[in-house]
Amino acid sequence: MKYILVTGCAGFIGFHLVDKLLKNKGIVVIGIDNINNYYDVNIKKQRLRILKNYNNFYFFKYSINNYRNLEKIFTGNKIHTVVNLAAQAGVRYSIENPDIYNDSNVKGFYNILRLSQIYKIKHLIFASSSSVYGDVNKFPTQEVYNTNDPESFYAATKKINETMARSFSCIYKLKCTGLRFFTVYGPYGRPDMSIYKFTKLISENQVINLNNDGNHFRDFTYIDDVIFFLNKIIFSNKINNKLFSIFNLCGSDSQKLTKVVKLIEYNLNKKAKINFSSFQIGDVLKTHGDNKKILKFSKKYKFIKIEEGIKKFILWYKNKNEISKN
Ligand SMILES: NC(=O)c1ccc[n+]([C@@H]2O[C@H](COP(=O)([O-])OP(=O)(O)OC[C@H]3O[C@@H](n4cnc5c(N)ncnc54)[C@H](O)[C@@H]3O)[C@@H](O)[C@H]2O)c1
Repeated sequence: MKYILVTGCAGFIGFHLVDKLLKNKGIVVIGIDNINNYYDVNIKKQRLRILKNYNNFYFFKYSINNYRNLEKIFTGNKIHTVVNLAAQAGVRYSIENPDIYNDSNVKGFYNILRLSQIYKIKHLIFASSSSVYGDVNKFPTQEVYNTNDPESFYAATKKINETMARSFSCIYKLKCTGLRFFTVYGPYGRPDMSIYKFTKLISENQVINLNNDGNHFRDFTYIDDVIFFLNKIIFSNKINNKLFSIFNLCGSDSQKLTKVVKLIEYNLNKKAKINFSSFQIGDVLKTHGDNKKILKFSKKYKFIKIEEGIKKFILWYKNKNEISKN
């Protein structure tokens, strides 16, 4: 049996990863999540209910900020791989609530790092973010680009994570892989993120807010693509044999927000009511990552195009609402 610890397992990406891992024979997943109320906790509970159907899944409502609780998990189980997805996400929320980011993303991450080192974990994989690139103007951004100019405290915490992990892998030979996710979307997604939020508001005839007059560009990445590569990284040790690595995880296909709104309108067959507003502090104008490095895990892999991804997401969204009506 291989034991994998996944933190943030009730979150969007954590849920999809655990759901995929549990389908493998010989894998036991220990999931932890503090089920915070950054967005509707019912969504997290619903994801957990699905995961609890598997008998190779064990859940603990713990915070990664609590070293003693975390240590119980490391002492009680022979953990092979740790995937740290627990974090306070969101760029804008970090402007009002920097303390939470310091507690979960810096101190909590330190606990994960330290215990992974003490208990000689074979591989620590952790979530970083495209936000580490700041407001650059040279695209697509490559992993080697400068990441010293974060525009938000959230981005700063992700950069700090990469630096902390780099030092642990250097000093203690702990194998660490950081993944810079780029605006992930899909079924069971995060209601605070644009595609989910716009879909909900447009379908309820409510006004959507388009910051920077809709002139933002994002490298939207469908959840199945993220899970495909996460799975590869967990199981393909030979391909990723470096002690420390960072990968962009994106389709390398940056889309203007106004186009995304049009696709949502088309799939919902409804016109959006739009309020155009100014550029918000903490935001970046554009994300567009280079994905050549991650493609070494699967050279011919085809990322899901935005047209197809939004279609799949909206099918899920409509279906979910139908079920909850009955
Ligand atoms: N979704 C994206 O587009 C995106 C982009 C870049 C980076 N990321 C990063 O990927 C990771 C997963 O993101 P997500 O979209 O699934 O977010 P999410 O908020 O849905 O999931 C994070 C989960 O972690 C839990 N959590 C937060 N603080 C915790 C703590 N101290 N202890 C234990 N659990 C805690 C939350 O309750 C939540 O369920 C995060 O680290 C996020 O910063 C996500």
